[in-house]
This record gives sequence, C-alpha cells and structure tokens, in this order.
Amino acid sequence: MARVSGLLALLGVLGGAAAHYNASSTSVKVSWVGDAPAQNLGTTFGLPWPQGKYKPHEVDFQLSDGQTPLQSWVTGYWRDGSIKWSAHAIPKTDSVATEYTVQATPKGKGKFKREVQKTKISVNHGHKEIIVNTGKITVSFPKEGRHIVSSIKTAGGKIVGKNGRLVLHSQTDIPVTADDRTDTAVDRSNFESNIEGVTVSKDNSVRALVTVRGKHTTTEGSDHEDWLPFVVRFYLYANSEAIRVVHSITFDGQQDKDFISGLGIQFQVPLKGEQLYNRHVRLAGTDGGFLNEAVKGITGLRRDPGAAIRTAQFEGKALPAESTWDTRVTTRLHWIPAWNDYSLSQLSPDGFTLKKRTKAGQSWINIPGGTRAGGLAYLGGATQGGLAVSLRDFWKRYPTGLDIANAASDEGQITLWLYSPDAAPLDLRGYHDGLGQDTYAKQLDALEITYEDYEAKFDSPYGISRTNEVFLYAFESTPSSDTLAALNAHAQEPPMLVAKPEYLLETKALGSYWGLPDISTPAKAKIESNLDFLVKHYQKEVEARRWYGFLDHGDVMHAYDVDRHQWRYDIGGYAWDNSELSPDLFVWQYFLRTGRADVYRFAEAMTRHTGEVDSYHIGDWKGLGTRHGVLHFADSAKQARISQPQYRKYFYYLSGGDERTGELLDDTLDADKSYGVLDPVRKVRTDGWKPSPGAPVTFGLGTDWAALAAGWLIEWERRGPRWEEAKKKLTGTATGIANLKNGFVTGSGSYLIENGTLLPPPTDPDNQGVVAISHLSAVFGMPEVISELLEYWGDEAPAGFREAWLDYTYYYLAGAAEQTARYGTAFSGVSLKQGHSRLSAYYAATQNNASVAALAWTNYRNDGLRDSQAFTTNRIEGSAVLHPVDEAAWLSTNDFAQYGLASIQNLAYIGDSI
Ligand SMILES: *[C@@H]1O[C@H](CO)[C@@H](O)[C@H](O)[C@H]1NC(C)=O
Ligand SMILES: *[C@@H]1O[C@H](CO)[C@@H](O)[C@H](O)[C@H]1NC(C)=O
Ligand SMILES: *[C@@H]1O[C@H](CO)[C@@H](O)[C@H](O)[C@H]1NC(C)=O
Repeated sequence: MARVSGLLALLGVLGGAAAHYNASSTSVKVSWVGDAPAQNLGTTFGLPWPQGKYKPHEVDFQLSDGQTPLQSWVTGYWRDGSIKWSAHAIPKTDSVATEYTVQATPKGKGKFKREVQKTKISVNHGHKEIIVNTGKITVSFPKEGRHIVSSIKTAGGKIVGKNGRLVLHSQTDIPVTADDRTDTAVDRSNFESNIEGVTVSKDNSVRALVTVRGKHTTTEGSDHEDWLPFVVRFYLYANSEAIRVVHSITFDGQQDKDFISGLGIQFQVPLKGEQLYNRHVRLAGTDGGFLNEAVKGITGLRRDPGAAIRTAQFEGKALPAESTWDTRVTTRLHWIPAWNDYSLSQLSPDGFTLKKRTKAGQSWINIPGGTRAGGLAYLGGATQGGLAVSLRDFWKRYPTGLDIANAASDEGQITLWLYSPDAAPLDLRGYHDGLGQDTYAKQLDALEITYEDYEAKFDSPYGISRTNEVFLYAFESTPSSDTLAALNAHAQEPPMLVAKPEYLLETKALGSYWGLPDISTPAKAKIESNLDFLVKHYQKEVEARRWYGFLDHGDVMHAYDVDRHQWRYDIGGYAWDNSELSPDLFVWQYFLRTGRADVYRFAEAMTRHTGEVDSYHIGDWKGLGTRHGVLHFADSAKQARISQPQYRKYFYYLSGGDERTGELLDDTLDADKSYGVLDPVRKVRTDGWKPSPGAPVTFGLGTDWAALAAGWLIEWERRGPRWEEAKKKLTGTATGIANLKNGFVTGSGSYLIENGTLLPPPTDPDNQGVVAISHLSAVFGMPEVISELLEYWGDEAPAGFREAWLDYTYYYLAGAAEQTARYGTAFSGVSLKQGHSRLSAYYAATQNNASVAALAWTNYRNDGLRDSQAFTTNRIEGSAVLHPVDEAAWLSTNDFAQYGLASIQNLAYIGDSI
C-alpha cells in the first residue's frame, strides 16, 4: 500500500477532486511545467481545442487575470477549419502566477483590449534594418552584411552590445599525431556570418520574432566558398531585456576537408570611458556559482584602498571617487595589471578550465576551474552597462566555451563557443574505412555480425543540422551575481506553460491513444511503476554514460553489452538509437499523461537531437533520416521512418509552434522525392525494380508511408503553404491503400510523386493480392499517425481505408490459421508482439471486441518486457567498470520504447479488461 500511495503522490492525482477545465468550458488553465519559475521573461506556449469549438475568425483569447497581455495565433486547424491548436505569448511579467487561465471570448468582445495594446512591441521595418523595441531594449538587425545584430541598446540609451556576428573556424585536415602538427598542408580558414535574408513577424503585440538566414563567409579572402548555412531566430518579448536566440546550422561541407574547429556567436561590448576598476567580468561556475572579477582588481593588494571600496568592486558597483581612497593605492594604480582576456573551456561534461591574461603575447594564468560550468558570461561596467550571454545545456553540449577579450580596451568582446576552438576539430568522417564491403552481399553479411548496414559514400554528414538555444541579456549597469544566477537558471530551463493532461486528452488534439495514469488495480499500478522506472532509468543513464556532446546530446543508445557492462557504443547498429522503434513517441506520450517536468525536458532534448542530427535537411536525402549506428549519420539506411514527423509533432504544438521545428517539418514534405533517387530496400530487393526520377517509385506501406502521411497530415493541420498538395497526397495514397486487394498487408506500393496516386507494387501490378508484412511497419509511428488521421478525417476518410487498417490491426496477431483463411497464406516474420498488442487493443476498442482485447493482453504479457519481472538495477563497481553503474542489463531501447507504447495504449484502449 505504501508503494501505491507513493505512486499516487508521484502522479499528482491525490487532489483529483480539483475542478478542471474541459471541452465544454470556454477557459483553459495552463500551468508551468514543473515548479513555477522565479521569473518570467516572456514565454510562448500551445493550447489545443476540441474539434468544432472555435472558428478562428470568431474568437479572441485573453488571460482572465485581466492584466497580463496575451498574443494569440493559430498553429493548427481541424478538418472543418475550427481551431485545433492555438499558440500564445505572454510578455515579461513582474510577478509570476502559478497558473494562468486562457479565456476564449467572441471576437471583438474582449475586456482587456487596451491593456494589450499598451505593451505592444515597436517594430520598425526599415530599408536597411529592422529595429525592435521591447520597452526595455532596442535591438537593430541589419538586413545585409556580416552583423546579424548591429546594436543592443538599453532603455537608458546605453549600447551594451554591437556588431553581433557568427564566427566559424575550419581546417582542411586533422593532424594524426602531435608530430604531424608541423605539417603545413593543413589550411585553416576563418569565417563569419553573411546575411542572405531577414524577416520579422507581423503580429508583434507581445512577441517579435526576427529570423536571419545566411551562410558563413570567409573573413580573409581565402577561396573557400560560403558554407555552413545558418538560421538564427531572435525572440523578443514586451518588457523584457532578454533575447532568446535559436541558432541552427546545417553541414554542407566535405567530411574529409571541412573540419569545424570553432563555431560561435560574438558581440562587441563598448567600454570606452569606463574606469578599468569599474569593468566587470562574470563567468558562471557550478551550482549557481560565479567568478566575480574586475578588469583591474583593487582587492587583495598590499595596500588597502578601504573596505567600502573593495566591497563595491566585488559587488560590481561603481567605486567612490579616487579622492576617497587610501592614496597609497591611488598613486600606484598604474602598477596593477589589467586583465584583458578571460577564457573558459568546457571540453568534457565533467570539467571546465578557466584562465586569464593581461594581453596577447603574455602567458595565461590559470584560474581554478570546476566540473560543469553554468554557461553564462557577462562583460560590462558599473556605469556603462553590459551584456550577458548564456548557452542552454552548456556543459551537456561540450566542447563549449566562453571567451572575453579586450576587456581593458575601448571595446570588449564576448564570444560564446557552441563548438570550442580549444577542442579537437569536429570530425565527421566515417569511423572505419569500409572494411572491404564493396558489394551488397558483403554488406549484408557484415550486417549479420555488427548489425551495421554499411555502404561506401553513405556515411555522409552532408545535410545534418544542429540547433542551440542562447539567451542575451542587456543591463544598465553590472548586475548582482545573484541576478545573473537567476537569469542563467531561466536560460537552462526556459519556463514552459502547458495545459493539464486531462484537458489535452479531452481535446483529442494529440490523439486518443493515451490515457491518464490509473493505479486503481494492482495490475495497473504495476505497469505505472514500471513506466516510471523506465523513464527514470534512461534519465540516469544519460548521466551515468555521459550521453552528452555537441551532436550527441539528446540521443540514447540502442542496446547493451552485458559482458562489458557498457552500452554497445562501438558496435554498428547497436550504438546511437536514432529513434529506433520510437522512444520519442513513448517519452512524449508519457509526458502527455503525467505532465512531469523531468519527462518534458528529456523529451525536448531528444526531439532537438533526433529532428536535427539524425536527419538530412538539404541534398538528395532531404527529409530522410539515418538508421541507428556508431555515428548518427553513418549507416547506409536512409529512411523516412527515422525522420518521422510524428516524433516532432508533440513538441511542435505544445511549444506554440516552435519555428525551427516547424521548418524541420517542412523539410520532411520533400522526403517522397528521395524515393526517385534512392531505393530504401535496394540491398534486398528481388523484383528488379530501380528508382528513376519522374517514374513511379515503390515504397513500404508501413514505415515509409506512415512517415510521409504524418508529414502530410501535419501540413494539412497547419494549413501550411503546401497543405493542398499534402492533403491530395494523403488522400491519394490512402485511397490507393484501400484499393489494394490486401490493403496494408500488401507491404508496398507504386507511388506517383507528382499527383500522389498509389498503385499496386511491381510484384503485383494486377492487384491479385500479395502478402508482405514486416514487424517494423507499425513500430515507427504508424498506429499513432493512422489513429489521428482517421479521427481527423471522420466520415470523409477514403472508402475502405479504415477497414484496411482494421484488417491489419486484427490479422497481425491473429495467428496462421486466420491469416491463411483471409489472405491465402500465413504471415511470416511476425515479431515484436508486445509492441503490436496495441494494434489488437485498437481493434478491440473500436470494434468493441472482448476476445481481441484478451488476445492483446496475452501478446502484451508473453513478449518483450514482462510485468512479472523485476524492474530493478544491479550495482556494478570496482575494476569491472570505468566507474560504478546501476545497470539494467535486461533492458534495450527497443523494449523501452515498445513496452512503453504498448502499455500506454493498451491501458487507454482496453484498460478495463487487463
Ligand atoms: C466540464 O467542467 C464543468 C465545470 O467544471 C463540469 O460541470 C462538467 O461536468 C465537465 N464536463 C465534463 C464532460 O467533464
Ligand atoms: C496521376 O498520374 C498518372 C500518371 O501520369 C495518371 O495515370 C493518373 O491518372 C493521375 N491520377 C490523378 C488522380 O491525377
Ligand atoms: C471479435 O472479432 C473476431 C474477428 O473478427 C470475430 O470472429 C468475433 O466474433 C468477434 N467477437 C465479438 C464479440 O464481436
């Protein structure tokens, strides 16, 4: 019983009697993910609405506190044009409420209109630059040139940041040994941002978004062409002195010639006129700590200027007039060195180093460093103001760094390193030389041993991306380090508002395949406790195994090596997971039903990784992802199942339409074109078909179609620029599947990219009916996508499509006899039965069929992870392991994901018959 009440507290269901806002209410409560933050510097969130409830032109949204302005827009629509998802922004507020109530009112009848207008951000869209004034800062964004921000000015008129630019260093090779460093054949180049386009949002009542696109261009006239395209998004909120920056790059270099050896964002900080002893450097250390220094220190000297003066300097306040100091100090100020440069390097997740020097050409002095730096740097003056820069997940994204330069000159400089120049360059070459695998036969044989699907030239990073989140803060004068610590806490976990799980569920906007945790019976309570174990265990493994790094942060490993007590980080297809079997879906659905902050942050980091690094965003493979492997991009299986847009959908809508994620969703709309140049099953195809551009392509009706369908549905929901094309392709292919004699069981089809028609596969041009199922078809988002799609379509689903899906959900686990009776042959290759039990559960629930429900639970219980087994870890320590670990040697990420999804969905569909 103790365990059950512990769970109750954990799930937050003790206060179940509290009123909640449901589909028939006109208002919805949102509260912070986790505890209410200490401060709100402005935030954006998404809110779903039930179908048919509000038409966009008939409704306004306001906060019922009557004070806090709300900017609202629509990010998703139901089929009937009613609002499916709204997005909302609130400005910086002086106080933070624990929850807010979003009130829907008939258009134009709102009570608080004037208040909203009062806080309007001013946006001046000029010929040469865009100027945004939040009321606290004015930021200028040039529309061309090298500076993505020309100035950041405080309300007091002080320019505290200028000439903001992106910086990039690269080299043409990596010396093999220290001896080789004398090899002059390594060319090094420096690049900076070169703007190609700048846009600004139209509605800016609470939030303005400036989007800057371009490439990195050489600074010294080397002949390297512009490369490494970037998109930098600046989010500015009314009343806020903070700027949220979302920085994305896409690798378009050559993996063996373009080694990134530094990637950063740099600002100049004007310091002219500020006494050196009034200039301050602040660098975040560990646990909210700070290095608090002045460029010219007057503490610790042989002669004491006076306690008040020393304290003022330490606190970052302007020092009293020199006439009030002890003259033994003032007469000798010129003998005290000024510290011009500071450098913090976080080259591993376990330690950072810190140093300073008086100027270039003089030696660096080590400053005691620490373990995990906070990721914020400040440079400024007591009277002139200053600038702070903070990188979210600073140490988790190692190798990172923060440099302060020229602090003793008229113009200081802060550089935030997203990739530290002190680290070895980013090496995106393949990790082996191919091992002689020069035929498909050899590659398939190698797959038998390392589980890696290799093919020469497919280990390419061309087109992968990475996104980082940065915050900039402007100050009228040097702030207290407590203030900086609070701002950095905000940057590390930007506060997020979300509606309660009950409400999200009632709207059905993220499907009806999940339900709320319920521990009313021992069997259900056991499953909840298992799910809790799984999610916590993976969070602990991220830390225990140091799954961190510039590219790696957010991913998890695929399988465990019980002998080495180590994940198989070096064994082909068992290493990085790259969304294999949909852990993304499990953690997001687990968040939806629990609302837990730890789960949200875990899911968010995963989405930021899998959507960027594991997928291609330009080139022939745009819209496809890469199968699990030792490097995120090295396996030769480039498939839509890995870039599955459904994995992005939860975060996209809950975040209020995160624009970067929206762009990744756009990318996947071109995934279908890739089938004209790349056959995903080329190595095992026996029918002789070959892709050729313009001709019909063949693709799988499981992993391929489900991923394309997810992208098309999301585009239709968003009413994006290609929604009519997306709807046509979605309807065309679904109609095609319905028309196949064996529906989904056919396994593949011929698809006409141009008009979205789907015909029988080359193996069965006359649609006689073939049987080709795969255990993988339904474990990369297909159940979620089709379930949402059928609800979206309602009675307009193409005739026969629902029945085709019901057949698949029924027959996959129905056994050989029933399969033969229906299709003339039994299915071969039926596995992952636990994961597929949720298909039976779907059938049972929608057809109200108790015997199929029982079959679902039987398959759930007799495969994969068993509820009867102990969900526990074993401590391994001593010389057997690098450092002590709590291992769950019985657990793989396939099981983590599929047990998680089967549990959640079986409980939702057929929980009553458990
Ligand atoms: C919705 O909420 C209202 C007010 O709390 C309540 O009276 C009503 O019963 C709820 N309806 C549903 C379907 O839960
Ligand atoms: C799609 O294109 C094919 C080939 O051009 C054509 O045969 C078919 O009629 C078209 N279908 C539709 C619905 O436009
Ligand atoms: C459940 O479905 C199976 C297969 O369609 C059918 O044979 C059986 O009669 C159904 N049972 C009920 C109670 O509908």
